Amino acid sequence: MEMGLERDARRAADRIAEAESVTIISHIDADGISTESILAQALARAGISVTSVFVRQLEPMAMRHVPKDDSLKLFTDLGAGQQILLSDHGLDADDVLIIDHHVSQPCGTAYPQVNCLDFGITRMSAAGIAYLVAKAIDPANADLAKLAVVGNVGDMMARENCGLVGPARDIVQDGVAYGNIVVQKPDLNCYGTSTRPVHVCLGYCDDPYIDGISNSTTGALRFLEKLGVTLKNPQGGWLVWEELPFDDRRTIISALAQQLIAHGRETDRLLAETYIFPDEPGRTVLRNASEYATLLNACGRWAKPKVGSSICCGDRGDAYRDAEYMLAHHRSVIRDLLQYILDTGVTELSHLQYIHTGDRFPDTIVGIGAGMALSKLNWRKPIMVLAVMVDEPEVIKVSMRTNEWAIARGVDLQGALVEASAAVGGAGGGHRIAAGAFIPHDAEEEFIDGVNRILKRQFAPADTGDS
Ligand code: C5P
Ligand code: C5P
Repeated sequence: MEMGLERDARRAADRIAEAESVTIISHIDADGISTESILAQALARAGISVTSVFVRQLEPMAMRHVPKDDSLKLFTDLGAGQQILLSDHGLDADDVLIIDHHVSQPCGTAYPQVNCLDFGITRMSAAGIAYLVAKAIDPANADLAKLAVVGNVGDMMARENCGLVGPARDIVQDGVAYGNIVVQKPDLNCYGTSTRPVHVCLGYCDDPYIDGISNSTTGALRFLEKLGVTLKNPQGGWLVWEELPFDDRRTIISALAQQLIAHGRETDRLLAETYIFPDEPGRTVLRNASEYATLLNACGRWAKPKVGSSICCGDRGDAYRDAEYMLAHHRSVIRDLLQYILDTGVTELSHLQYIHTGDRFPDTIVGIGAGMALSKLNWRKPIMVLAVMVDEPEVIKVSMRTNEWAIARGVDLQGALVEASAAVGGAGGGHRIAAGAFIPHDAEEEFIDGVNRILKRQFAPADTGDS
């Protein structure tokens, strides 16, 4: 029996097949870029003419990039929460197809949409849905499962369960069957297993927090040296995790588990399922899903989403060189941003912690900083980062992040930001766990208070349950 999401994907495929030409309007992050590249390739293979436009967010100013022509407008990884803007732009239901995983904010026009949330599927990104549409267009598109995995991992859909689950996991299986995905299970739950020396990889890992190793590459190196495993190749260069022999990896993992236990910590997040791409060269960020996703984020969030898209479509020449350059830049600014948040400190309200980064960092990356800072701050309070939009100084960009602990207690950041931003004449959207908004700069204080009040209300049933 075909499940509901696949049925909707098939309907979308039929609608696309009828179109003379298609404009894809997609989001600039790793998920938005992989989504666009899946659909652009599937459509090109089907002989449908396609043009792509990337926007950092669907807001009134961005709508001018949506052409007023006869093409079918495919809104991907955005649109569900901004249907009112589509209608204000004069788009009819027949002109539009939304492929999204954000919470819907419906309007007077019933736009056709494929959205995993309609079926209670929360651990699935837009690229996963796009892949289902591509597969409904032609089952031969199974090679694109790899890009769907990049999008899913990039949107942190594998985070909570240390691997993809449900329909997103089924997509992995398509890639395994096709031959361009290898699942490593169990593998080390650390970032950088294809490119970083093992001690650097471990030193940067703080989920789980490993005493003596997390935040200390020298501590990590000392730990590894005591285990007697070979850490360098015959030429004297550091090996990366992926290159270590199986037995050495097992030795390290069991020593790490003992280290966690010795410090009274849980071991359940030490291992994860990871996704390796055997068709990509070793020791490059293209080699596994999470590093590939960072490369795409580096392109998109620094205004070169098309470079990321070219990479997804197989360009390993100029685009790849550009992207590597942007990745280095992206990493260093993210590091500065995280340090800035930790050094400056946040202001704590009863149910919220926030910081204003002014015009120091671009609005496209503050959400990433918020997510990284949360685990190092008071993780019980949702975090908000406010930033000035460089090209629109009257507008403040707001990014919020929380975690599964708070979600289980009733927190819903999408709900909170939609309500609080509407009250000050702004607009917001996203997910329970991660959401964003734009607000007028003179409404900041009122808005922050409003969000704190809404969070207090959301936490209330669980707070009372505790006492
Ligand atoms: O920008 P940031 O990374 O904080 O966005 C978090 C989530 O909120 C994303 O899913 C984004 O699409 C969504 N968002 C939104 N409306 C905004 C800003 C962000 O729906 N105005
Ligand atoms: O625009 P969009 O949907 O892509 O943004 C999703 C955001 O939610 C990402 O920045 C991602 O890091 C964040 N997220 C998270 N924890 C999760 C799932 C998503 O912080 N468990």
